[in-house]
Amino acid sequence: MTLFRGTFLDTPENPFTGGTLRVATDAALLVEEGVIRARGPYQELRRAHPAEQVVDLTGGLVLPGFVDTHVHFPQIRAVGGMGMPLMEWLDKYALPEEARMADPEYAGSVADEFVRGLAAAGTTSALVFGAHYVDAMDTLFSAASRVGLRVTSGLVVSDRLLRPDLLTTPDRAHTESVALANRWHDVGRNRYAVTPRFSLSCTDELLAACHDVMNDVPDAWFTSHLNENDAEIATVAELFGGSDYLSTYDKHGLVGRHSVFAHNVHPTDVELKLLGTSGATVAHCPTSNAALGSGLFPIGRHLDHGVRVALGSDVGAGTGFSLLKEGLQAYFCQQLLGDNGHPLTSAHLLHLSTSAGAEALGLDAVGDLSVGKRFDAQLLRPADSSPLAVGITHAADAEEVLARIFTLGTPADVRAVWIDGELLTTGEN
Ligand code: GUN
Ligand code: ZN
Repeated sequence: MTLFRGTFLDTPENPFTGGTLRVATDAALLVEEGVIRARGPYQELRRAHPAEQVVDLTGGLVLPGFVDTHVHFPQIRAVGGMGMPLMEWLDKYALPEEARMADPEYAGSVADEFVRGLAAAGTTSALVFGAHYVDAMDTLFSAASRVGLRVTSGLVVSDRLLRPDLLTTPDRAHTESVALANRWHDVGRNRYAVTPRFSLSCTDELLAACHDVMNDVPDAWFTSHLNENDAEIATVAELFGGSDYLSTYDKHGLVGRHSVFAHNVHPTDVELKLLGTSGATVAHCPTSNAALGSGLFPIGRHLDHGVRVALGSDVGAGTGFSLLKEGLQAYFCQQLLGDNGHPLTSAHLLHLSTSAGAEALGLDAVGDLSVGKRFDAQLLRPADSSPLAVGITHAADAEEVLARIFTLGTPADVRAVWIDGELLTTGEN
C-alpha cells in the first residue's frame, strides 16, 4: 500500500446540481492495488499506517485525471489550421492528413505521439475518434496499451461525400469493425466505440451496419458528430429528406446511454429532449467551436433538458490536448452568450473535465478521488515564480486556486500522472 500525501481537489458531488468543490489540504489517500482504500488528514492516516511508503506531493495540487470525451487520433499533426469553417477545414486540412493513416508505419508514429500527448496533459481516459484504416486502429490500441491509458475508440466509417480513399462499404465496415472489437474490446483498459464519421458522410445502409455492430459487440460505445455547423446541418437535412440531425442516428437505434455526440452547437428542443431521455452525452468542444467559428455552445439548454455534458479537446480542430484550456474556453463561451449563458465556476470546469466525463463514458471507478475509486490522478505544480505559481500563492481560497489553474495552467505544469495508482510520467517527483 502507498500513502499519497498532498492537497487534493475533486468534485464527487455535481456542482450543476448543488455540489461544491471538495478540498482536502495536507491530506492523504491510502492506495492499495490501484484502489483508494482510505482518505483523511495526513497525520491521522500516517498514525494508522506507520509502515506504508509515503509519496510526498506537498507543494503541488492533485486533481483527478482528466477525461477527454472527444479527441481525434489522426489529427494531431493538423492542429492549428486557421481561417476555415468546418467543411473546408475537413477537405483542405484534416482529411488529407487522415488519408496518410493508410500507411501503418506513419499511423504508428502518430499513435505514439498521440497517447504521450494525452498523458502529458493529465488525461487518463479518452473517447478517441479513430482512423479510417484498420491497421492504424491496431497501432492506436497498441500504443494506448503500452502507456496504460483508458481508451475507448473504433474504426471511423464513411461511404459518401469524402475523398474516395477514406470510404468503405456497409459490409466491409461491419466485418472490419467486429474484427477490431474482437481484438481490443474489453482487452486491458481498451473498449470499442462504433464510429460513423457524421451522417453527412454515411448512407442509411452504413448507419444500419453500425447498428448491427452495436448488436454484435456487447457493451460497445457509440460516437459521432452532431449539429456542429450551419452549412453541415443544412446538407444533412437535404440528404435525409428534412429530418433533424439527431433523427438520422436515432432511426437506426444509435441514440442511447452509450452514445456520445460531439459539438451539438445548434440543437433543436426536440433533439435536446431525446438526448436527455435517452441518457446520451454531448461532448462540448469549445476551442474547436471557436477555431472553426462553429458557434457558442448552449450549455444551459442542455442542462435544462437533463442532457449529460462533458468536455472534449477535439484535437485537431481543437487547439491542443489540455482540458485546462478547454475548461477556460468553456467559461469564455458562456460569458460571450451574455444573458443566454450559464455562468461557470472553477468547480464546474473541474467537474466537466473529470467526473462528468467519467460518468459519460460509464467509467464508474474513476472521475474523483473518493474511497473505493481507482487512483487516476495528476499532480499540478507550476514552476517557481511563474504566473500560475504567483496566482496560486495569492489566491483567496481553493475555488480561486482552481480558477487560476484553469486560466494559466498548461501541460508543462502537469508533473506526474497515475492510472490505477501506477505512475505514467515523472516530473521532479
Ligand atoms: N465532423 C466530421 N468530421 C469532423 C472532424 O474531424 N472534426 C470536427 N470538428 N467535426 C467533424
Ligand atoms: Zn470531432
